Amino acid sequence: MSNQKSTIKNQDSQISKVGIIGAGTMGAGIAQVAATAGCEVKLYDVKQDQLDQAAADLDKILARLVQKGRIDSQERERIQGNIAHVDALSELSHCDLVIEAIVENLEVKKKVFGELEKRVSDDCIIATNTSSLSITSIASALKNPERCLGIHFFNPAPLMKLVEIIPAVQTSTNITELCKETIASWGKTVAVAKDTPGFIVNRVARPFYSEALRIYEEGMASIPAIDKAVKQMEFRMGPFELMDFIGHDVNYVVTESVFEAFYYDPRYKPSLTQKRLVEAGWMGRKSGKGFYEFADGVKQDLD
Ligand code: NAI
Repeated sequence: MSNQKSTIKNQDSQISKVGIIGAGTMGAGIAQVAATAGCEVKLYDVKQDQLDQAAADLDKILARLVQKGRIDSQERERIQGNIAHVDALSELSHCDLVIEAIVENLEVKKKVFGELEKRVSDDCIIATNTSSLSITSIASALKNPERCLGIHFFNPAPLMKLVEIIPAVQTSTNITELCKETIASWGKTVAVAKDTPGFIVNRVARPFYSEALRIYEEGMASIPAIDKAVKQMEFRMGPFELMDFIGHDVNYVVTESVFEAFYYDPRYKPSLTQKRLVEAGWMGRKSGKGFYEFADGVKQDLD
């Protein structure tokens, strides 16, 4: 299914002003990618402390890149100068493209999209970074849903090459094409996926997490032993390290959402072990504790 009709955005037009909603793990990373590519970026969050944290983290990341000789100080200034941290949605009114990266909750995302549409121009493209929710359902919150699609970055956004682009049922073809070109011009490799739960990568990844959790729950091996074994197979991180890195609030809710969206297919059943971590507030790296403990974001050895 594709929606051919559209009067919005000429395929040749350039995207230079980018808004990001949510200055958490993903929003801050996507802002860095877009700013590095030369876009004028407005990074918005409801929480001032998140905006402050995002600005401080960017400072540290860029300083490290300068130290390593990957960029010079002029480039650092250019990237920083391209990002404004803003505390009002209305600041995004002049954007060509807005990418939402807030909490993985359908109703919250729909509400924000409805609010955003009132503030941006008719030809602003509105995208979501959702990991698992229906793009078609999110788009339905807009009066003009042809402008909406999924642009799904991976964590950490500045390092991970892949970006999935997911047109909704309503998305016009020229919007999808323009976004493919734009994201590729930001140095990313684009994979177009259909609007199905978890798209490509998050669907393939579900059993990676859930089988590891089952091995642990069945008492077959310890968490570090499972991680160590998997890393011997050339995976950069073990499944538990990766879940801690992603954040259990995000990772658990994605599993729940994929499970529900596939009509409770037991292949995608969430884990009670992970649910308890979420209930305890042990979200992983970002909260200092998950399966592992972290000091200043650095994993501490369990044994
Ligand atoms: P996060 O929890 O690190 O950040 C979310 C941010 O959104 C917070 O700063 C919060 O204050 C802000 N926020 C919440 N409601 C808001 C609102 N109404 N308006 C403005 N800001 C609001 O979450 P994270 O990990 O960055 O995830 C964001 C989205 O990206 C989710 O949809 C998630 O599924 C998706 N995603 C996450 C990945 C990950 O590895 N963490 C990977 C790829 C996608």
